[in-house]
Amino acid sequence: LHQGGAPQDLSGLKVVVSAGGTREYLDPVRFLGNRSSGLQGYALARAAASRGAHVTLVSANVSLADPAGVSVVRVETTDQLREAVLAATATADAVVMAAAPADFRPTSVSDAKIKKADDGSSPSIELTQNPDVLAEISHDRARPDAVIVGFAAETGDATGSVLDLGRAKLARKGCDLLVVNDVSGGAVFGSADNEAVILGADGAAVEVPRGSKTALAHVIWDEVSRRFAE
Ligand code: CTP
Ligand code: CA
Repeated sequence: LHQGGAPQDLSGLKVVVSAGGTREYLDPVRFLGNRSSGLQGYALARAAASRGAHVTLVSANVSLADPAGVSVVRVETTDQLREAVLAATATADAVVMAAAPADFRPTSVSDAKIKKADDGSSPSIELTQNPDVLAEISHDRARPDAVIVGFAAETGDATGSVLDLGRAKLARKGCDLLVVNDVSGGAVFGSADNEAVILGADGAAVEVPRGSKTALAHVIWDEVSRRFAE
């Protein structure tokens, strides 16, 4: 759709996109994971490449083909994702954190496969909080002029609506844009479609109607591109 005819407004820019969901190992064969498919991150990477950007895609446990013309760095854990994102972010004009990093990891990883106990008892898993990559790159900026974008899937709860929670998360993370998905209705995971509001630290709120993840990707790059122009 956007190929060939896409505007070349990201020409020469270096962008970083993270995609997929991290895995946190318990032992050599087991991990804690999440349902992120990577589809939105891959759509962002393809869209940026079609608009002329040099794209580094930090990909966590995704079963999708490498997008053409994109440099793909594969990671499994949140620590590995952090290392890869920090390295690529040092020189990046824009960073989009579409990945779902696991918030917690097992405090210790067993070198050997954990076996069932003879007495039928079950182990408990102690968890440690993972570093927040988006907050780190936003609060401790490698390049003050870079545009940093986060994602948030929210349902709304007793403390606030989806948009209230989105605004609070945007402020907490310190990023420039936050793409907020309302997931109270159900399936976005693995779905080809997405619907979102893009909140700006500058107060902007851009509603993106339900459509393809590629269409949302292009609106996100429009918002990033507009901020470069300013
Ligand atoms: N993120 C990150 N590092 C983490 C967790 C999240 O960089 N350890 C990024 C995600 O890639 C996303 C944004 O932060 O762009 C928001 O993720 P989300 O899970 O909504 O935020 P959390 O701070 O983990 O809040 P919650 O308790 O709602 O999960
Ligand atoms: Ca989280």
